[in-house]
Amino acid sequence: MQNLNVDNGNAVNTAANHPAPPHEQIRVIEDRASGLKAVIAIHSTALGPAAGGCRRWKYASMQQAIDDAKRLSTGMTYKNALAGVGFGGGKSVIMADSNVKPTALQLQKFASCLNQLDGRYITAEDVGMGVEQMLSMAQHTKFVSGIGIGGIGGDPSPKTAQGVFIGLEAAAQYQFGIDSLQGLRVVVQGLGNVGFALCERLAGAGVSLFVCDLDIRRVRLAEHKFGAQAVSLERVLSTEADIFVPCALGGVITEAVAETLPVAMVAGAANNQLANENSGKILLQRGVQYVPDFVLNAGGVISIAHEYHVTGNAGVEAGLGEKWVRDRISEIPQRAISILEVARNTGCTPDAVARRQALEIVCAATQSRPLHAA
Ligand code: NAI
Repeated sequence: MQNLNVDNGNAVNTAANHPAPPHEQIRVIEDRASGLKAVIAIHSTALGPAAGGCRRWKYASMQQAIDDAKRLSTGMTYKNALAGVGFGGGKSVIMADSNVKPTALQLQKFASCLNQLDGRYITAEDVGMGVEQMLSMAQHTKFVSGIGIGGIGGDPSPKTAQGVFIGLEAAAQYQFGIDSLQGLRVVVQGLGNVGFALCERLAGAGVSLFVCDLDIRRVRLAEHKFGAQAVSLERVLSTEADIFVPCALGGVITEAVAETLPVAMVAGAANNQLANENSGKILLQRGVQYVPDFVLNAGGVISIAHEYHVTGNAGVEAGLGEKWVRDRISEIPQRAISILEVARNTGCTPDAVARRQALEIVCAATQSRPLHAA
């Protein structure tokens, strides 16, 4: 296991000029025996153990995997800070074809790397890694969540979909001055664990649903179950609609896409939807409302945090229970609206406003942390 950065967790910039603080630690794993190639990125532990899912994806190079892990873990710092779940930000990625299951040996090796980090990073499900893989790793490490011990927690996707739905609904009411989503044209990109569950809620709310996925079977199922209309991969970013809902991978809103996307709002589950900061500025200039992904999609990590704290890995926290999960998720709409409101009043992008608010929380925790704390 290769350590690229030494721990520099106390070196946090102020939120006033708000660049993200540097990563505390990047671990690169290349294990010949199992064939495991992975990266664990710990962005910040200022608010607690760095938590974030493990993604399996066919990256073209190790550098791409490192870059993605760094981007995703930074987003987790923002998400976890705003959601108030007692976690810092981290993420891991495994270089592999997500259609091919990982071997037991690879999962065991990954679990042993988590043990070496001794709780500084907590993993869970993400694209290409489900409950089955978490359960397998849990045989070798306690630093995993999203496995559903004793009926608590489990797959975070339904909670993510719930949070995205109520946040999207509130944002649409705010933006369009409407009472319900009934009749709005909504395009959903990605019909995986979150996207499909979200479609069920959107269809129930009476939207006119347009869907797209690499896997045509999922598209057919959404057509059948929700009366959705299929959109091809080529047309998904040029389909006129009220709301575009990214639920596949990140980076979908490039500058070119931001210039032309024919919608009034972007609000979805995918992490890191904006390819860069300028994409957000272009959306703002065009009057397209962007609801920050890490604000909307926090339902899953709220469930993960509840499970992790309650099932004893981190000790039971007083007062934590299903009500805690419900209360935290029910805060998502109000948080989204207040960020959109500040953005409207200041002329900043909602993404910049949300990041600044999150970094203020991280900075405050860092400054109150004893010097040289782990
Ligand atoms: P998933 O792996 O279950 O589903 C992703 C879906 O997107 C798959 O059906 C895949 O075929 C499709 N897809 C990939 N590239 C595509 C493309 N270019 N065009 C159309 N479809 C494409 O993943 P999951 O769990 O549903 O997550 C979706 C997104 O939400 C990811 O970005 C993930 O990081 C994010 N997220 C997920 C959470 C969870 O609780 N599962 C929590 C927070 C964020």
